[in-house]
Amino acid sequence: YSLQNLNTFGIAARASQFLRVEQLAQLQAIFADAQLKAMPRLILGGGSNLVLSDQVNALVLHMALKGRQILGEDEDYVYVQAAAGENWHEFVLWTLEQGLGGLENLSLIPGTVGAAPIQNIGAYGIEIQDVFASLSAFDFVTGEIVEIDKATCNFAYRDSIFKQDYKDRMVILSVRFALPKRWQARLGYADVAQYLSQHQIELPAAKDVSNAIIAIRQAKLPDPAKIGNAGSFFKNPIVPAAQRDNLLAAHPMLVSYPQDKGDYKLAAGWLIDQCGWKGRQSGRAGVYEKQALVLVNHGGATGAEVRALAQAVQADVYAKFAVKLEIEPVFF
Ligand code: EPU
Repeated sequence: YSLQNLNTFGIAARASQFLRVEQLAQLQAIFADAQLKAMPRLILGGGSNLVLSDQVNALVLHMALKGRQILGEDEDYVYVQAAAGENWHEFVLWTLEQGLGGLENLSLIPGTVGAAPIQNIGAYGIEIQDVFASLSAFDFVTGEIVEIDKATCNFAYRDSIFKQDYKDRMVILSVRFALPKRWQARLGYADVAQYLSQHQIELPAAKDVSNAIIAIRQAKLPDPAKIGNAGSFFKNPIVPAAQRDNLLAAHPMLVSYPQDKGDYKLAAGWLIDQCGWKGRQSGRAGVYEKQALVLVNHGGATGAEVRALAQAVQADVYAKFAVKLEIEPVFF
């Protein structure tokens, strides 16, 4: 079964077994079948954070559960829910149409609702953990449906329990969000504030922030429909203050942001850019010309070519800055 149109990197991978999951009963049937249950599984959402090998020897479960609704409210929040197979950006737009703010900074992130908590998607000053209420998942160890609260998710920068202890165990079915009734625009990110002031929007509504972020993302990030990619390919490394100070002394233009506990987050895109990688190619894979943190498929790249390019970039950044870049998407 060809997965080429189901991964945004556009890798021509084939799956040994494939199932489009539209109902919970299909997962329960797999759980009840000893042979299927024992197979390695790849849970596929939008395929936008994934680098596939040519042959995927696994049971690929393409999550297509649909549905979204407003669940209710309390004094502070309106609660909304979406099924795992809903497209993330369409869900964000739907909440805005309902007059609900809170997700606008996460506009235009590729992928599905079910995949969003796995890497705690984040952009322009917010992460999913800031608006997350709870989720339901199918537990492939017990065969039960479990409700998982925020504390259990262990959210961290581009990380959660679903990439750690619950990897290969939980299949996310639906996600619930708490959207603040006393909404305030989050404009901490310079790009966003600048865009709004350039467009003379002084008191932006959630929809204005969403539009700004859509425009910023479109200018900087490649559209996967046109050029294969998986968004940022590396995490922005977090280093202790002393290391950042040494780097800053040697490289006065270093881009870094203060974190909790005195650590600093370094802009990996800047580090890669400084190594001269921006716009360069290695085989059919390359570093995007407008954002060095994004690796792209110039057409026909294999997972192995992407991995080789990633390793070459990591090696150069390490040689120049003694900083290790961690790969963000999942290799399968
Ligand atoms: N920079 C360069 N050269 C480059 C790229 C970036 O000098 O080629 C510098 C920029 O000038 C800027 C800094 O690096 O000062 C940061 O760049 P940018 O604002 O584009 O953000 P980022 O740190 O590269 C992160 C997220 C993105 C998210 C943006 C906006 C990660 C791994 N990436 O990118 O998330 O959209 O911030 O919040 O944290 C994703 O995860 O797939 C993703 C796109």
